[in-house]
Amino acid sequence: MYYPEELIEEVRQKNDIVDVISGYVGLQKKGSNYMCCCPFHGEKTPSFSVNRARQIYKCFGCGEGGNVLTFVMKYENCTFPEAMKILADKAGVELPQAEYSEEAKRRESRRQKLLEINKAAATFYFYQLRTERGAKAREYLDKRKLSEETRKNFGLGFAPTRGEELLAYLHQKGFTDELIRDAGLAKMDEKRGTTTQFWNRVMFPIQDINHRVIGFGGRIMGDNDSGPKYLNSPETEIFDKSRNLYGMNYARTARTGNIILCEGYMDVISMHQAGFTQAVASLGTAFTLGQAGLIKKYTKDVLLAYDSDGAGVKAALRAIRILRDAGMSGKIINMSPYKDPDEFIKNLGQAAFQERIDHAENSFMFEIRMLERDYDMNDPEEKTNFHNQIARKLCDFSEDVERENYIEAVAEKYHIGFENLRKLVVNMAAKTGGYAVTVTQQPKSGIQSRNKNTPEEKVKNAQRLLLTWLTDYPQLYFKIKNYISPEDFTVELYQKVAKRMFEDIEQNRLNPAGIINMFEDEKDQSEAASLFTTKLPELETDQEKEKAFHDILVSVKKNSYEYYSAKSGVDISALSKVIEGRKALEELNKTHISLN
Ligand code: CTP
Ligand code: MN
Repeated sequence: MYYPEELIEEVRQKNDIVDVISGYVGLQKKGSNYMCCCPFHGEKTPSFSVNRARQIYKCFGCGEGGNVLTFVMKYENCTFPEAMKILADKAGVELPQAEYSEEAKRRESRRQKLLEINKAAATFYFYQLRTERGAKAREYLDKRKLSEETRKNFGLGFAPTRGEELLAYLHQKGFTDELIRDAGLAKMDEKRGTTTQFWNRVMFPIQDINHRVIGFGGRIMGDNDSGPKYLNSPETEIFDKSRNLYGMNYARTARTGNIILCEGYMDVISMHQAGFTQAVASLGTAFTLGQAGLIKKYTKDVLLAYDSDGAGVKAALRAIRILRDAGMSGKIINMSPYKDPDEFIKNLGQAAFQERIDHAENSFMFEIRMLERDYDMNDPEEKTNFHNQIARKLCDFSEDVERENYIEAVAEKYHIGFENLRKLVVNMAAKTGGYAVTVTQQPKSGIQSRNKNTPEEKVKNAQRLLLTWLTDYPQLYFKIKNYISPEDFTVELYQKVAKRMFEDIEQNRLNPAGIINMFEDEKDQSEAASLFTTKLPELETDQEKEKAFHDILVSVKKNSYEYYSAKSGVDISALSKVIEGRKALEELNKTHISLN
């Protein structure tokens, strides 16, 4: 859905940022800002600040920032159109309805019907669990230690032995046999007519991320019951097993910063009951790239809580590769001595599981450890083969620093000399065309952090500071407009913001929160927000402030001059910037700019 900019602005303006954010978290007034602990990263002292005048928020801890729309998107984990809908509803703004083609309308109404019938079936099963006939299922759930709250939360139910009752219930609601079949709830054949898919099972409704029931899993209750342990709905028009995850409707708002991927429905339910609401599971089929993509919308941090048996390890190794293909990192939770998270939590409890989460193993180290099992380390030849296999895997890291760090970690753990392993990797890469051929530097330990003191960071900071100054004192713009232009902001995003900001000030309608809407990407929005909220030095007198402002201005101008000088050899248009820059710098040196 495409919304015109004016409409986006209207929705934004009708939703005061302080009011909206207060609806989610407790804000405390502090000076001209409202503060609280950041809802987007864990912290104990508040560094999350909301500014009513500018209608923006910013966390000085994690760097998150934006306007009311980006806040809702981030907090609700939703898309831009969804955030628009939430805020438009709040403010009573009517959004235009999308114009659907006849074909699209027909498809949509069919999807709606299939969702309705699934919902009706879920209601039926839910009710059956609470009847006399449901006693056996209730006992089963008691045995598995699921509380009433958990049962309600996941909408657990019971499919009675006589399938006719579900059919009668659905008929009475006006659904036809064909629709019941198309929803995956029954089969039709000439001999037996319509027969239901599920009978005499505990029912687990499967919901999409919007809490709509799209299918079911059904479990037998006794070891002597016939049929497979779990039976699932077949794939239907609304049930795509490769693009949905059990529990994701809750996990998406868990705000833990990670997702725990399990194998089974019961694992997810036990985990949620123990407070780990970030747990999800695939739907009776192997984990897919589509599911990885779904998770990636919320977090890149995935913890695997797969069964500890052979099949579980195999599935985990497969999932790791899929996560890696999707550009995510995985860690493995050690479940021993138990088989799966459900058993683990029942026996050792929540705190012990949290500890296992905290000590989850890096997926690469897990892969190597599993690889080791295939080799006899007492046999020199097998040992060599093992080392070669490690080297082969290390070649897959395309980033030098990352690869070096892993070489270091593996060398230490498996008692291989660092230089030896490194040579092995380089040779292997030369043979197989891996990335490691270019290795030249010494290993660095730890992950490279963003260094605040590099020349680039200093330049960026000066440009940010200048824009924040102008947000605080827009009238200053008119005093410096002869010296400065958007091109002086050499960071592309800053330049865009400066251009728009200068235009807005000229027309006396400066609006930082509106400027953030220029960007679609979340990172860009945060970055843009940081331009209005950089921490200005705390200065007492106007004289000190004026000097600070002058210094920042000269610093931005000087960088721009140097930037274009360097380019002028290859780029003619840069030359005029250089000449103009030198003149401006000379004049600035002689000029006093007062704040008032
Ligand atoms: N599964 C399935 N069909 C089966 C067995 C399993 O679809 N016949 C799927 C289900 O989604 C199940 C998951 O695989 O949740 C994991 O199976 P398993 O580990 O065997 O079951 P548990 O989750 O341990 O279930 P329970 O604790 O109820 O025995
Ligand atoms: Mn289990």
